[in-house]
Amino acid sequence: MRKGNECAKEQGKMASRMGFIDLVTGRRGASGFGSSSTAQQVSEGIDASKLTAIVTGGASGIGLETVRVLATQGAHVVIGARNLETAMAVKKDILCQIPGARIDILPLDLSSMESVRKFAYQFQALNLPLNILINNAGIMFCPFKLSEDGLEMHFATNHIGHFLLTNLLLDNMKKTAKETQVEGRIVNLSSIAHMLTYKDGMRFNRINDQSGYSDKKAYGQSKLANILHAYELSRRLKEEGAHVTVNSVHPGFIMTNLMRYSMTLMRFLKFFSGFLWKNVSQGAATTCYVALHPDLKGVSGKYFSDCNEATPSPFGRDKDLAKKLWEFSTKLVK
Ligand SMILES: NC(=O)c1ccc[n+]([C@@H]2O[C@H](COP(=O)([O-])OP(=O)(O)OC[C@H]3O[C@@H](n4cnc5c(N)ncnc54)[C@H](OP(=O)(O)O)[C@@H]3O)[C@@H](O)[C@H]2O)c1
Repeated sequence: MRKGNECAKEQGKMASRMGFIDLVTGRRGASGFGSSSTAQQVSEGIDASKLTAIVTGGASGIGLETVRVLATQGAHVVIGARNLETAMAVKKDILCQIPGARIDILPLDLSSMESVRKFAYQFQALNLPLNILINNAGIMFCPFKLSEDGLEMHFATNHIGHFLLTNLLLDNMKKTAKETQVEGRIVNLSSIAHMLTYKDGMRFNRINDQSGYSDKKAYGQSKLANILHAYELSRRLKEEGAHVTVNSVHPGFIMTNLMRYSMTLMRFLKFFSGFLWKNVSQGAATTCYVALHPDLKGVSGKYFSDCNEATPSPFGRDKDLAKKLWEFSTKLVK
């Protein structure tokens, strides 16, 4: 098997070459996987039976498939969900498919800092190790709304909720990695839509301002935040020598409940660009690859698409912007 950093270098070289043609044809990249690979295929033969994972928003769409595949490989999975009834139904369904699957459910509303703190507290009370954190939950293109903490809803749910959750669980992850000598992994679900953000990348001075609000740009801004968060956290963890990696992913285009605020537009787009879309099992592949695959040992602070390293937008590579977002977010969660 190739060593992690050798593979990373090779993937880095290939990153710029993976593109539109690969997406459409499903041609495999340096990792040996591509846009048509499924979550099950990228996880084939990986023993996750000693791992515990948290998947936010694990009761539907990409998150649900991620939970199913992690559980198939033997991982103990904790689903963070705001709709407990749906999550219970999902658990029942997975247990029918995989008898003996270890799945727990804890209430989590990422748009509320109080709920995020309660989730972390309840998880800690379970006395479980924590190897993998998948920051998957998200909302897209919703009309302007403030969260209970007074933050614009995309920013609150997609970024600040996950920023706080990750901070609260980081000691568990570091401790688990140290005790077990198994690398911890954090995966942020971003999107290619991070490229469609506001003019300056992040609207720090007007984050909660309704004037000039665009549902598309607000989503793009929150997905840019997911990449910058992964980058800055990975830099800090490397500096500390912590055995935990952090990466971000674009899962592809997949028709899920995410489209609830833009169903007509998305159906219209899909009608003309069906060849660019994936099914849910392909949509969860990049997440599972980055969370589980041994080739990515030690790879941190990178952005992945179609199961291969990719290059984010210039804002997504802006180290100063990443630091600024970190400081801004830290003040908000305090
Ligand atoms: N689908 C795509 O084409 C696509 C493309 C690029 C990136 N992504 C990213 O992939 C991730 C997963 O999306 P998906 O397509 O699987 O969408 P999805 O099916 O709607 O799943 C999103 C999950 O997040 C949960 N969620 C939303 N708001 C929450 C909150 N405040 N607290 C807790 N959970 C919350 C949802 O719960 P409810 O069921 O209760 O709403 C749902 O379980 C998102 O981060 C999205 O930005 C998706």
